[in-house]
Amino acid sequence: LKELASLNLIASAQSMPQSHNILPRVLSFYHHWKKIYGSMFLVWFGPTPRLTISDPALIREIFVLKSELFEKNESPPLVRKIEGDGLLSLKGEKWAHHRKIIQPTFHTENLKLMIPMMAKSMEEALVKWSEKMSNCGKVEIEVSNWFQNLVEDVITRATFGSSYEDGRKIFELQSQQMVHATEAYQKVFIPGYRFLPTKKNRISWRLEKEIRKSLLKLIDRRRKNSGCQSLSDECPNDLLELMIKASLKESADESSHSSPSSYSSPHAITANDVVEECKTIFFAGKHTTSNLLTWTAVLLAMHPQWQEQAREEVLRVCGARDTPTKDDLAKLKTLGMILNESLRLYPPAVAIIRRAKTDMQLGGLHILRGTELLIPILAVHHDPALWCHDAHEFNPARFAKGVAHAAKHPMAFMPFGMGARRCIGQNLAVLQAKLAIAMILQRFSFELSPSYQHAPSVLMLLHPQYGAPIVFRKL
Ligand code: HEM
Repeated sequence: LKELASLNLIASAQSMPQSHNILPRVLSFYHHWKKIYGSMFLVWFGPTPRLTISDPALIREIFVLKSELFEKNESPPLVRKIEGDGLLSLKGEKWAHHRKIIQPTFHTENLKLMIPMMAKSMEEALVKWSEKMSNCGKVEIEVSNWFQNLVEDVITRATFGSSYEDGRKIFELQSQQMVHATEAYQKVFIPGYRFLPTKKNRISWRLEKEIRKSLLKLIDRRRKNSGCQSLSDECPNDLLELMIKASLKESADESSHSSPSSYSSPHAITANDVVEECKTIFFAGKHTTSNLLTWTAVLLAMHPQWQEQAREEVLRVCGARDTPTKDDLAKLKTLGMILNESLRLYPPAVAIIRRAKTDMQLGGLHILRGTELLIPILAVHHDPALWCHDAHEFNPARFAKGVAHAAKHPMAFMPFGMGARRCIGQNLAVLQAKLAIAMILQRFSFELSPSYQHAPSVLMLLHPQYGAPIVFRKL
């Protein structure tokens, strides 16, 4: 154990030059330990040891077969303030109740109605690219910021529907708060840091108050109009409407029971719950989806033969149509494979943590209550034992027969997590990514800018440390 502590993953990663692509070194440490200690071993993260588990069969036990024996661990308080007390962090019955109410927003049929709106956002942005093109018909774009704006637009519509304009302002404030929080997150290990009235903390507190006040105002307005307001056709089941309807129904149910003791719903939805869920959806959806889009664009720029193959498919399926329809998107198999391969090589969420709720047996080990388990998504996705000798290479063809047959074990691919707490926004993320990349392929060819530095880095999520400048040329 002492030997492992001396190899502390974080310390090793920090001692590497910042401009370096640290991924191969971190992964080689990991695979080295796996060779010596097997698929379960302890790694110290600061003072906390975590049992790292990479055997897909055991991962299945944790997320599916014995999921009731594990719970999510709590995010540090500073992160929790930004991510909201919503689905990401709730537990037990309250989590189940919220998940049931919110789920229809992300149902495929509901999301398909949003395709024209998503295409419109893309179209407007791409026209600007064309306008910026120089005489030689090319333009350099730093795509990670650009994709973030695009994703913000779509998530705001899914959350607020007809109140989109007001929602946009609120999420802009949350974006600002995230920037301050991301900086403060690096100091999260300084005890009491979040209570210190530093300039950044004070700004963050002010933003938090403003976000809450604006959301409560919006909720109040919707509550008054609920039932008579005509909702946007783009997203009839927007998250705000579904949560407000549920909260109104629950308070009506409660007041219709004569004896207060005969009915009480401990998890009835309150205005505060709606506020927290809106914050959570924005936090959980924005950077994850924009990272997927960014890494996919980078990979296609690095692999022109796949870019060409994907473009050929998009042009063939869409014909003369400027924007793909929902039926077109369903037919884009190569693009689907490329997105999966991008999620495999650069999963935005690199790991998931769970805590044992009770003493138990797992994989021949006696696990004590409270033990933290770390499922290293990134390492599992790069494991040659599961993905063959070309595990570190970009090869979308491995997904040709579907996700279940891509690796040696069907549970080896889990960019969206697994089991009951699987990502609720998966369909939205994939739909948006497919549409955005297809529309770019229809209009431009692209390559990496000479200034691009390949430096995948983890700060909460796996992102390109120096951004992703890409040069686009009109077709
Ligand atoms: C949960 C990844 C997009 C909302 C998760 C989890 C992962 C994940 C790994 C499971 C966490 C755990 O089990 O501890 C991703 C990736 C995305 C993405 C890779 C994009 C490429 C989105 C979007 C939204 C969203 C677009 C919403 C608009 C959520 C929420 C949860 C979650 C609310 C918590 C679900 C629950 O516990 O019930 N996501 N996500 N995600 N995600 Fe995503």
